[in-house]
Amino acid sequence: MSKKFNPETLCVQAGWTPKKGEPRVLPIYQSTTFKYDTSEQMARLFDLEESGYFYTRLQNPTNDAVAAKIAALEGGVAAMLTASGQAANFYAIFNICQAGDHFVCSSSIYGGTFNLFAVTLKKLGIEVTFVSPDAPDEEIEKAFQANTKALFGESISNPSLEVLDIEKFARIAHKQGVPLIVDNTFPTPINCRPFEWGADIVVHSTTKYMDGHATSVGGCIVDSGNFDWDAHADKFPGLCTPDESYHGLTYSKAFGKMAYITKATAQLMRDLGSIQSPQNAFLLNIGLETLHLRMPQHCKNALAVATYLHNNDKV
Ligand SMILES: Cc1ncc(COP(=O)(O)O)c(C=O)c1O
Repeated sequence: MSKKFNPETLCVQAGWTPKKGEPRVLPIYQSTTFKYDTSEQMARLFDLEESGYFYTRLQNPTNDAVAAKIAALEGGVAAMLTASGQAANFYAIFNICQAGDHFVCSSSIYGGTFNLFAVTLKKLGIEVTFVSPDAPDEEIEKAFQANTKALFGESISNPSLEVLDIEKFARIAHKQGVPLIVDNTFPTPINCRPFEWGADIVVHSTTKYMDGHATSVGGCIVDSGNFDWDAHADKFPGLCTPDESYHGLTYSKAFGKMAYITKATAQLMRDLGSIQSPQNAFLLNIGLETLHLRMPQHCKNALAVATYLHNNDKV
């Protein structure tokens, strides 16, 4: 859908595609559990051999439809909703980093993300090195170590409003054999689609412009499907070697371009459980339906303020 339609169409139409007689509006599947016919079918669902629903912590149709809309808007292969932007950022890193690992991060990021990365992840044995996003390539490259697993930045930083050179960050990350993760909360895919500039994973706090009505805290992770995990298999054992908690399944082999997002859903969400409630996903979807109308107005408002300040000799 994302290749054929403009963002404004995707805002309204993507994700939920009802068949004849089904509700036109995305329903709230307010159900913990889903019916199955046989124990064998349930076992296949649990073993990821068949796609379908059985327990909302793992997957829910309302959440999946909204995640699919955001994936279409970003031009990714799939997405997963989380309870908050904080949860999205935690999962995005923890999906590929474990105790003893390290990642590199732009120093211009949201304070909550800074605390998560610098303080809380450190307690889990994951170290971060912050770099100035405006530093030359060589200086940023010096921050990489043998155990570095990712590069992270915000497309427009909160609160300093610095615009990330995504192409530069992608070039550096890929030279080092790691993915670039971009928090795209502020521009939203209406104003910037980081995958088009080389990012591999996009995260959002949907709490802001995407929700748009200040009703629901939420987050999202989108996978471009572009990073070749197997080409760097030694760095990413969680994706490229068998998962003992899934009967020895190897995500990169079993799911190819969907390996990262499948692991995030099937393993991290199963174990950590920070799901977005279907009710909040429904409200988020209503916000997304007008994102293409609201973002240009936000830009117009910001330009009016900036022009006023620029022309004021007291500033
Ligand atoms: C850029 C950015 N990322 C992540 C977050 C965290 O999101 P949430 O408040 O939804 O947990 C925020 C919150 O302000 C943010 O501005």
